[in-house]
Amino acid sequence: MGTAAAGEPVVIERAPGVGGELVLRRAGDDYEIISNGVFLMDTRNGESERLLVRACVRGLDGPVRLLIGGLGVGFSLAEALTLPGVAHITLVEREHAVIGWHASALRPWSGGALDDPRVTVRCADLLDVVADPAIGRFDALCLDIDNGPDWTVTPRNARLYAPTGLDLLTRLLTPRGVLAVWSANAAPAFEALLRRRFARVEVHPVPVPRGEPDVIYLAARPRPAE
Ligand SMILES: C[S@@+](CC[C@H](N)C(=O)[O-])C[C@H]1O[C@@H](n2cnc3c(N)ncnc32)[C@H](O)[C@@H]1O
Repeated sequence: MGTAAAGEPVVIERAPGVGGELVLRRAGDDYEIISNGVFLMDTRNGESERLLVRACVRGLDGPVRLLIGGLGVGFSLAEALTLPGVAHITLVEREHAVIGWHASALRPWSGGALDDPRVTVRCADLLDVVADPAIGRFDALCLDIDNGPDWTVTPRNARLYAPTGLDLLTRLLTPRGVLAVWSANAAPAFEALLRRRFARVEVHPVPVPRGEPDVIYLAARPRPAE
């Protein structure tokens, strides 16, 4: 582990990943994950990542079966475990290295959540998982694998936000189920797609210290197929 002036990032580890090279950097007391050359997540401010799960399960009486796509630094997963009624979480993360970092540098942020008996960790590509009928159905789907529908970390991920991806996600929802999608910016074309596909859509902007607000998209009550 190198030393650095406060705030100046130092590379802690590089690892080959399914979606390109993964880099874990430390900047002062914080950590950053870069994947395939795309800045993906850091430990500085998890407000919108926590809201993603809180907003998704709000109003659902327990027991709630939840799927979280994308581990990152673990803000969403750790938050989900604090919510009453959350009975089981399937956590899908495609990168072994990211999961491994939660046994070391990132452990303070996930707080041992990966070892919680309510959590099943699947090291797999979310696009393969949602296409697998054996995965079952969920009351809450919380997706945060990219910087948003318009800014994916690898090109294949874009399929998730297209009509065919939304069809697969819709099939995973229980009748009361809610889909939540995180984005680093407003994604109007994706919102329009959600409004065509679901009778209930909510858009929650979350202010951030610099730049455009993060946005949480919620969708429920799928419309009958056209
Ligand atoms: C922005 S981070 C998630 C942030 C997380 N919500 C948090 O609280 O820290 C995105 C994560 O999704 C993972 N990921 C990207 N594409 C994926 C895919 N197709 N399937 C599963 N995981 C994926 C990345 O490796 C990364 O760990």
